Amino acid sequence: MRQTDFLVIGSGIAGLTYALKVANQFPEKKVLVMTKASADETNTKYAQGGIAVVNDLENDSFAKHIEDTLIAGDGLCNEKVVEIVVKEGPERVQEIIDWGAKFDKEEDGDYKRGKEGGHSEFRILHHKDVTGKEMERALIDAVNRQANIEFIKHCFVVDIITQHHLGYLVNKATPDVECYGVYVLNLETNKIEKILAKITLLATGGNGQVYRTTTNPSIATGDGVAMVYRAKGRVENMEFIQFHPTALYEPSVRGHAFLITEAVRGDGGILRNLNGEAFMEKYDERKDLAPRDIVARAIDSEMKRTGTEHVWLDCRHFTKEKFTEHFPNIYEKCLSIGIDITKNMIPVAPAAHYSCGGIKTDEWGRSSIRNLYACGECASTGLHGANRLASNSLLEAMVFAHRCFIDATEKIGLTSFNTNIPDWNAKGTTEPKEMILITQSLKELQQVMSDYVGIVRNNVRLQRAMRRLDLLWEETEQLYESSSLSPQLLQLRNMITVGYLIVKGASFRKESRGLHFNTDYPGNSNLIQNIVL
Ligand code: FAD
Ligand code: SIN
Repeated sequence: MRQTDFLVIGSGIAGLTYALKVANQFPEKKVLVMTKASADETNTKYAQGGIAVVNDLENDSFAKHIEDTLIAGDGLCNEKVVEIVVKEGPERVQEIIDWGAKFDKEEDGDYKRGKEGGHSEFRILHHKDVTGKEMERALIDAVNRQANIEFIKHCFVVDIITQHHLGYLVNKATPDVECYGVYVLNLETNKIEKILAKITLLATGGNGQVYRTTTNPSIATGDGVAMVYRAKGRVENMEFIQFHPTALYEPSVRGHAFLITEAVRGDGGILRNLNGEAFMEKYDERKDLAPRDIVARAIDSEMKRTGTEHVWLDCRHFTKEKFTEHFPNIYEKCLSIGIDITKNMIPVAPAAHYSCGGIKTDEWGRSSIRNLYACGECASTGLHGANRLASNSLLEAMVFAHRCFIDATEKIGLTSFNTNIPDWNAKGTTEPKEMILITQSLKELQQVMSDYVGIVRNNVRLQRAMRRLDLLWEETEQLYESSSLSPQLLQLRNMITVGYLIVKGASFRKESRGLHFNTDYPGNSNLIQNIVL
């Protein structure tokens, strides 16, 4: 059994920013960061476009960034939270610069600023087309310099420990569910260990892997959301899954698709259908730079209309020098599969990209479970509403990591360890013999979610999806009860839970708003508020 003052689950931008702050504030206390993968295998590492921030008050303003965020969010953003994130953003961005992250600069030393869909100004700081990799690098370097942070990799957090594990009945009506730490599967020993913590932060990222094609790496399986839901905490707005309009279309690739950043359209890339027509003007006056929900739906509609599996992104009017100055990684990737972007158009199609909903938090990152915070993509803070504005998530993660830190600073002295927690009970389980059952169920789940709960939904599709998920859930629970645990089985179980929450949220939302488009309720004249599950 281990004990730590601060436990941080997840080593992306949210977890590491928070860990650095608490460790620096309390040099005598222990901070433990855990991740189920290698240190930097996170959604953060794959972020391309950059971080949206107003740090040029001559040409931009907080009011404009706030307005852009509210418009994208389609009536569901929490306005106070939007103001907090936009106004506190510049200070947080300066902190990561001070920790060593480098953003591209003009010759005169000012930052280069990019533009993406839904932004009225150029305000996106970036490091070429590998911004997340650079930010993650800087954070890991800073963590390695901090003596009181212990960083454990390849440890899979299975469940949050609450009163339930002490034998008490805990349900949604229990007023004070409390977090005492977590059970983890140590992937080196294959044993379940318990970790007691005074304060725990979930920074477990997104859930794109629930779909057949996603820009998210394999770690993005919604574990944090599933754990909180099992622990009877509050989860909200799960129906708002953002599909990125332009993932590279490679017919042989299933799962993790390569992203073609929206910044390419910000710099002048044009979407064309298979007939070569620049179609976005038919759908929105902002054309290729309309918010993502609109562009993704337009592409979906063009693909269905022309019976094809992709559209084109045309960059042939760029010179090689201009393109590679901002997008060297994309240039190389395209070339590696025989596409010279100065001569050939890039085949692109929408892919699951970002979860706007998640673990419900207040404006200090507190979840509904005591001593448990949530931050980053796994959290639902109120910033994104029904559709996230591009490049707002790295910003949100940093602002809320800081706010969790401020609140935890006040709470740590009032919290003690609960040492009565029992060990994990693995009696009656045996090694799983049939891995095929797990891999096949995962494929089925991804198929169901992509076919019935994708960009366009309707009631019949949602009902079908729910029935299929019920069956998958039942079969997976049988495996879970009888097998010793493996990350594949735990992830499958979590992803089925997340799929269920997405379908449930989508079924309750009897309107079309932002990322949720249901052809049975095409209008949105009666605002339905956040759907809390
Ligand atoms: P992550 O960075 O995903 O980290 C999650 C961590 O939790 C990982 O360390 C993982 O191993 C760990 N974890 C998960 N489950 C468990 C478990 N059970 N046990 C132990 N550890 C666990 N946003 C922008 O603002 N700008 C962009 O330009 C941008 N581009 C993007 C491009 C791509 C291709 C993708 C996929 C996303 C992009 N986003 C962008 C979104 C943004 O990158 C993410 O929302 C953000 O990085 C999430 O950070 P996070 O810290 O919340 O989670
Ligand atoms: C992109 O670079 O297009 C992704 C930006 C984001 O998801 O915020």
